[in-house]
Amino acid sequence: MTVPARRLEGVVCVVTGAARGIGVAIAERLAAEGGRVAAWDVSERRLDPTVAELRARGLDVQGFVCDVGSRQAVTDAMAQVEQGFGAPVGVLVNNAVWARFGALAEIDDEVVDRTLAVGLKALMWTTQAAAPQMRRRGGGSIVNLSSVSALHPQASSIVYAAMKGGVLGLTKAAAVELSPDRIRVNAVIPGMVGTPASKAQFDAVTLAQREAAMPLGRFGDPADIAGAVAFLASEDGAYVQGAELIVDGGWTVGTR
Ligand SMILES: NC(=O)c1ccc[n+]([C@@H]2O[C@H](COP(=O)([O-])OP(=O)(O)OC[C@H]3O[C@@H](n4cnc5c(N)ncnc54)[C@H](O)[C@@H]3O)[C@@H](O)[C@H]2O)c1
Repeated sequence: MTVPARRLEGVVCVVTGAARGIGVAIAERLAAEGGRVAAWDVSERRLDPTVAELRARGLDVQGFVCDVGSRQAVTDAMAQVEQGFGAPVGVLVNNAVWARFGALAEIDDEVVDRTLAVGLKALMWTTQAAAPQMRRRGGGSIVNLSSVSALHPQASSIVYAAMKGGVLGLTKAAAVELSPDRIRVNAVIPGMVGTPASKAQFDAVTLAQREAAMPLGRFGDPADIAGAVAFLASEDGAYVQGAELIVDGGWTVGTR
């Protein structure tokens, strides 16, 4: 990984869903830029080895087991982060997701409630808990992970697309409300990233066809998304507010 600068020196950063996939790359990138990273995840089993690996590379990362679907758990964890690092949170990356894809007829209450609790309501709780800390330090940056599914949904993605569309609305509304506090709120919109979870949705032939059709000829790498998040988190993104940054290799522009 080539890191342009240590743009986040000493800044306390919270990354949710940081035990695997894109969240790990974001935690790694923010820490490599000097950030002091609180890696949150609901799965202690997955989080512990991930944090150990990042720390073994000399990165300032601490793990926090937290179910972002619980308002109380989020409030408690945000307070523990400030206490643990001895400084208020300056960057919050809402990355955690719980998703199940299925046809309209298969949608049930459990899938809707869990999807929205982790992917949408949680952003209200994390933003609500982080904002006072950011205010105390004179500002901050919140980056929310949406998806191209919010812009160009595919079949069997009604719940996920609705959740990710909600993330975009929440991002803009929070940007307007928190601007007076010098808190920036932006969204990154990833296209298909080659994580195990995303690849598991398709068979090998479909995957190969989709990858070949990408304008840039490949799926995204978690590091591609982490780079965009780091830009928005840092002062390089100081005048970017309420924006949607599409990072999809050109997929929403057109296919080859
Ligand atoms: N992978 C892709 O192709 C892709 C594409 C577009 C958008 N995205 C978005 O990027 C983000 C990361 O995607 P990913 O593929 O790395 O996901 P992933 O499923 O690999 O990882 C999600 C992480 O969130 C954690 N998590 C789940 N429920 C949680 C909860 N209640 N509290 C705390 N943590 C919880 C999981 O344990 C897991 O570690 C998501 O918001 C996703 O929607 C991904």
